[in-house]
Amino acid sequence: PGAPDASAAELPAGSTGQTISKEVTILYGSQTGNGQGLAENAGKTLEGRGFQVTVSSMSDFKPNNLKKVQNLLIVVSTHGEGDPPDTALPFHEFLLGKRAPKLDDLRFSVLSLGDSSYEFFCQTGKEFDQRLEELGGTRLYPRFDCDLDYDEPAAEWLDGVLVGLSEAQGGSAAPATAHVSAPQAVESAYSRTNPFKAEVLENLNLNGRGSNKETRHLELSLEGSGLTFEPGDSLGIYPENDPALVDLLLEEMKWDPEEIVTVNKQGDVRPLKEALISHFEITVLTKPFLEKAVQLSTNEDLRELLSPGNEEKLKAYLEGRDLLDLVRDFGPWGVSTQELISILRKMPARLYSIASSLSANPDEVHLTIGAVRYETHGRERKGVTSILCAERLQPGDTLPVYIQHNQNFMLPKNPDTPIIMVGPGTGIAPFRSFMQEREEMGAQGKSWMLFGEQHFVTDFLYQTDWQKWVKDGVLTKMDVAFSRDSDEKVYVQHRMLEHSKELFEWLQEGAAVYICGDEKNMAHDVHNTLIDIIEKEGGMSREKAEDYLADMQQQKRYQRDVY
Ligand code: 2AM
Repeated sequence: PGAPDASAAELPAGSTGQTISKEVTILYGSQTGNGQGLAENAGKTLEGRGFQVTVSSMSDFKPNNLKKVQNLLIVVSTHGEGDPPDTALPFHEFLLGKRAPKLDDLRFSVLSLGDSSYEFFCQTGKEFDQRLEELGGTRLYPRFDCDLDYDEPAAEWLDGVLVGLSEAQGGSAAPATAHVSAPQAVESAYSRTNPFKAEVLENLNLNGRGSNKETRHLELSLEGSGLTFEPGDSLGIYPENDPALVDLLLEEMKWDPEEIVTVNKQGDVRPLKEALISHFEITVLTKPFLEKAVQLSTNEDLRELLSPGNEEKLKAYLEGRDLLDLVRDFGPWGVSTQELISILRKMPARLYSIASSLSANPDEVHLTIGAVRYETHGRERKGVTSILCAERLQPGDTLPVYIQHNQNFMLPKNPDTPIIMVGPGTGIAPFRSFMQEREEMGAQGKSWMLFGEQHFVTDFLYQTDWQKWVKDGVLTKMDVAFSRDSDEKVYVQHRMLEHSKELFEWLQEGAAVYICGDEKNMAHDVHNTLIDIIEKEGGMSREKAEDYLADMQQQKRYQRDVY
């Protein structure tokens, strides 16, 4: 992978004399690494076609240089409520703001990544696309909005971009045969599109009896895969749906589990039950899916739900419901199995932060996975991957996995740099990897762990590891917040505030701060607490304190892995 495609036609370089530029800048905004991988692969493909390519994270790109760019490709993902990735924030703010320059000579194209089960699907990509046009740019190829299964659309987009760039060169369009491949470890034959079947070595519940939580510690073998990873990287898992849920669906639809169905564009076939277990997403409903489903249905209520004016109702319906709800709520379905199957989303991979270091545990990868169980709309619901691990996966079984490198969550290059790690709940995972790695390396830098869970007795994840690291001096300082052991809730940010003077001193000494775990509440509160501490201890205005943290982010000294 990555070698220039020798069979690809060369560009008709300057053949008509109207050559504009062979320089292409690819900017990516990537949170989990998908966007970065696509950008890098697009860069390699374009280089193979004779372009001079610069691939850069938006965070490393000087916005003032934008005026010099003639061909710009943007690859960017969207998160949460339509937000850009952390690393894309300053560039996004600059471009959408008043200081953005006129870009009349710019040719551009945007590839946006997202998840159609979210309301603000591909919002960030849409914003860049629209704004570049407003600033005077010309699209060399239309924007593509990709759902979770982005490989094929991304490849198609790149084909179109190649044609667009070649036209901009003034020559005839070079036949575009190049394809983007998914991000992958160059050393290994295994990747997102060709996952490795990793054997389960160990599968334990980390919580004690009586806990409200069930957190699985999973150890998988990477032996023979050639897969490697760094602390901070994630493991992608392709899970299986709960066979009991699939059975309910088959019963409801009166479908034959053995019926042979086509599962992909390549025409591969599988028995229906297996297809529903392994190949398709059945636990999430999306608006685009319902819009296709209504075409297959004669149900008036469903048509009504999807008609203009009912957007809020539709949004409320989608919330927490799955395919079984849909088929129960809006029958009868006079459709063939294949018709319904072919509008389902492909089973998306799930990313988990790796909880081990490869140097400390060669050929292994460890994960920390919180079991998700709750009840809604009159039925018990289960997290697909977490409950597969909690209820069905046994040592000796295999799981299809790949490594997702994460450039946005890495130990400082200098082992002497102090680190502050904030990771309540399963957010502890990457920090176990950090500590294993630093222990293995004999790193001298100070380190400070802040962990929180509900109860000390049952929920102190990897307690003996942490105690050993403190004892051996690998970990300098550990603070814990057990939120339900006292009358008043204590959270990690309360511990940070109790030590605010010391924490600020660490920051002044150049410490890097890492946050991992729940995005919606925890990461948000911890972020604000950091600003509070900088404001108070640094004697700064709120605005100055915010700038201080933004500078840290720019220097990669403030990194988040949140979900
Ligand atoms: P709680 O469940 O008692 O509310 C891991 O889930 C730990 O994070 C738990 O102790 C949980 O407390 C705590 N937690 C919940 N909301 C939080 C927030 N906004 N900030 C920090 N910790 C939080």
